[in-house]
Amino acid sequence: MTARCDLSPVWAELQAHYAASGRGFDIRDAFTADAGRFDALSFAAPEVFADLSKNRIDAPTLALLLKLAAACGLEARRDALLRGDPVNHTEGRAVLHTALRAPAGSDAPFNAEVQASLDAMLAFAESVRRGERGEITDVVHIGIGGSDLGPAMVVQALQAFTRRDLKLHFVSNVDGHDLAPVLAGLNAQHTLFVIASKTFTTQETLANAQAAKAWFHAAGGTDVARHFVATSSNTAAAAAFGIDTAFGFWDWVGGRYSLWSVIGLPIAIAVGADNFRDLLAGAHAMDEHFASTPLDKNLPVLLGLIDIWYRNFHGFTSRSVAPYHQGLRRLPAYLQQLEMESNGKGVDLDGNALAIGTSPVVWGEAGTNGQHAYFQMLHQGTDVIPVEFIAVKRPNHGASGELAEKLADQHRKLLANCLAQSQALMQGKTAAEALTEKAPTASATLDRDVLSRHRSFPGNRPSTTLVLDALTPRSLGALIALYEHRVFVTGALWGINSFDQWGVELGKALCNQLLPRLETGDTAGLDGSTAGLLQRLTSA
Ligand code: F6P
Repeated sequence: MTARCDLSPVWAELQAHYAASGRGFDIRDAFTADAGRFDALSFAAPEVFADLSKNRIDAPTLALLLKLAAACGLEARRDALLRGDPVNHTEGRAVLHTALRAPAGSDAPFNAEVQASLDAMLAFAESVRRGERGEITDVVHIGIGGSDLGPAMVVQALQAFTRRDLKLHFVSNVDGHDLAPVLAGLNAQHTLFVIASKTFTTQETLANAQAAKAWFHAAGGTDVARHFVATSSNTAAAAAFGIDTAFGFWDWVGGRYSLWSVIGLPIAIAVGADNFRDLLAGAHAMDEHFASTPLDKNLPVLLGLIDIWYRNFHGFTSRSVAPYHQGLRRLPAYLQQLEMESNGKGVDLDGNALAIGTSPVVWGEAGTNGQHAYFQMLHQGTDVIPVEFIAVKRPNHGASGELAEKLADQHRKLLANCLAQSQALMQGKTAAEALTEKAPTASATLDRDVLSRHRSFPGNRPSTTLVLDALTPRSLGALIALYEHRVFVTGALWGINSFDQWGVELGKALCNQLLPRLETGDTAGLDGSTAGLLQRLTSA
């Protein structure tokens, strides 16, 4: 069953190539040698332009990586995914988030059902926006993981498309410090709760939903059925909770791929039906690019192949994502689930232990904030961490007059910072260069050579820059779909199941066993550390 790329003879070719020229590859020399490097290594996909030229790759490396993709049958695996084969084999499910953004009338699987579900969800969202469910000023969305991260990230990113008189709040953590401050400012009569859970069994979501219902009654609310709706594939459990408006979806929509389904309801309430359809259209355009563009120009494929080159040959264990747009500040958190829950696996499709690394750690922060936190380590630390910059050409501040001018100037500063960081990572600075400079805060007594070594940068640190013309529903849809497909590509080549998440089960089960002990303080049979901690947390 498995099509593990590390078992292909091309893997050995890549290892030899890495030893011969990959290990010592210098991006700066590559630019010196090839004036056309930027043009050769920049790619256009729908809504997204990608500069890959500041990576440790060249034409022979890419050719070998593409040969690996061909040898591992990547196109056939992609086609099986898009066709609706049960590629999530440990759960016997198809994985068809792409079908959720296929246009009406297309021959994508389940098109009629998808369109009916979408129309119903969007009609409901519009009825809320028009005030037909009473005067709703606040929507509290309760969900976690894929039932939170996608909608929360998108609503934040599309803030410029939202209405001021309709506020969206996202509550996910079982920690009551998440829910309490949200409820504190609300009026029950003007609040709509959306309970989002694919399974409707998730501890955190059900606890928050029960607490919200208790608050609703205490705050004078009477009509739960009108003020609580659910998005779930377990509509029976939602009904048992007292919810009669429940939007259902299918088991072939994975949690972390569900924002395109009725789980997107808070997005639709926030930005309206037309914008939601644009989000889907952007993602669909990227789906078409992924499905039909030759692999050597196929952006999700190229990004995935570079990920493999870095993870498995260079041995880089993490990737940092730096979106230079405040609206995208939750994108790294969203990508953590998308990538690490999908590809954080240790066995191949046949259950054999893997001898190669899989998901890198994905982390990051919006630029420029990250520059004043961890960029020091990216520039001078001992680990090489590829960075992914996301730049947005045109801002949408919604300002006018002098403020608009000031903010336009700030946008130039933002872009200059973004460009400067990737430039600095690549260029570095030698100790000799540092020696020629004056640094105002430098010690006047420390030996100048020693100081120059502290002030030098190794450079040759790789980065990718993705550019959007503007942050719109359409471009955001395309960007998210780009990441989804890239994660598929790496998972497919590693020969793993990117669509299950058994790794979260053990902790859940142990939590259920520990929960009663938090009341009784009983430590019998526990390991020493857990017993000691439990005692400390429960003692009077
Ligand atoms: O973290 C495990 C997980 O199953 C995710 O895959 C999912 O997105 C999340 O929990 C929430 O699950 P549900 O939507 O069923 O509440």
